Amino acid sequence: MRKLLIATFSVLVALLLAATAFAGGGAESSKAKSQLEIFSWWTAGGEAEGLNGLYATYHKLYPNVEIINATVAGGAGTNAKAVLSTRLTGGDPPDAFQLHAGLEVEKYDPEQYLQPLDSIYESAGFTKVFPKDLLTLLQYKGHYWGVPANIHRANVMWYNKKVFADNNLTPPTSWNEFFQVADAFKAKGIIPLVIGTKEGWEAGHTFETILLSVLGADGYRGLWNGTTSWSDPKVTQALDIFARLAPYVNSDHSALTWDQALQYMLDNKGAMHIMGDWADGWFTSKSYTGYGWEPVPGTAGVYDALSDSFAVPKGVKHEANAMNWVKVVGSKDGQEAFNPKKGSIPARTDCNPALFNAYLQSAMKDWESNAIVPSVVHGAAATEKWATVYKDILNTFVTKGDVAATQASLVQAAQENGGV
Ligand code: GAL
Repeated sequence: MRKLLIATFSVLVALLLAATAFAGGGAESSKAKSQLEIFSWWTAGGEAEGLNGLYATYHKLYPNVEIINATVAGGAGTNAKAVLSTRLTGGDPPDAFQLHAGLEVEKYDPEQYLQPLDSIYESAGFTKVFPKDLLTLLQYKGHYWGVPANIHRANVMWYNKKVFADNNLTPPTSWNEFFQVADAFKAKGIIPLVIGTKEGWEAGHTFETILLSVLGADGYRGLWNGTTSWSDPKVTQALDIFARLAPYVNSDHSALTWDQALQYMLDNKGAMHIMGDWADGWFTSKSYTGYGWEPVPGTAGVYDALSDSFAVPKGVKHEANAMNWVKVVGSKDGQEAFNPKKGSIPARTDCNPALFNAYLQSAMKDWESNAIVPSVVHGAAATEKWATVYKDILNTFVTKGDVAATQASLVQAAQENGGV
């Protein structure tokens, strides 16, 4: 009898334990049901770490939400933007997605597919903590469609301090100096200017900074708002400078992405690189400190700016989680976790500069004092349609090098897209 009682008791305990475990499992799976799918193209060194910093901030506040990291690799959104369009129009939107501040939003037909975020701007006090220029850039058809995580600078020339010091050379501040220095490096067997053009946006990126160097802030802005003609002799001059770079770049550029090309600098085989300051994030992710920076020759005093924001589509699966996400993106904690790793300055004006490295602190100062102009390759200056044609024209220029034909195509692209 006693044995029977013990056996019955054991069975009961076992059943109870199983039931508890099952309930626990049930709780876990219902937790797992609360998800958040974040769509971006941040997979490279620095970008990925920055994104993880944002995720960690979100997790602290919402520990029960599982984040699905939906990335589509490819710098500047080369591949991600097309995937996103298909998902939006196909009724399968991610909960939130990476969107450049500026005219890029037009591509996604915001009034049909996106949620205006004006009420979050009000409730979270964003209109008070983001700079005026940025707030203006973020508005399209009278609404805010994305919450900015950062501000990036496109016109930076990164350089390897060691190879400059070893060869007694000074980083160039004009194109004349640039070509002198480039000749000296070439004679020593060091690649003067490293570049990767594999993804099709990098030539356009380099060229927009050259346009800026020749046209200045107002002239460059005019290219996009119809007050500077693309047939201007200064555009010819900029194309001539770009064409002159060809003999100074690595011969394998078309096989490399921007970050792969940067490896030449780490290996002390390359001297300079023109890239946005996500390169600073990449260097940091590699614990590399041998780099210096200058504005692209001829662009001191001008900040070629862009900003990554997050937008929320209509009809998302996890609406409340998505709205909390954009609040975290715009929060002080979120921006302080993200930007030092990403290599960008915060969009907010109240973050602690001590958390940022020397480059980013210098960028924060430049942002305050420089003329701000919008980047075209990174969504700020023109519609995606125009920006894409522009990028394609510059890519063709890299292989063909025909200045007159390229300028004629640029004029035509402008005329078809509201420029002159
Ligand atoms: C830009 C984006 C940056 C960086 C870069 C390279 O368009 O704004 O955040 O990711 O592309 O992928």
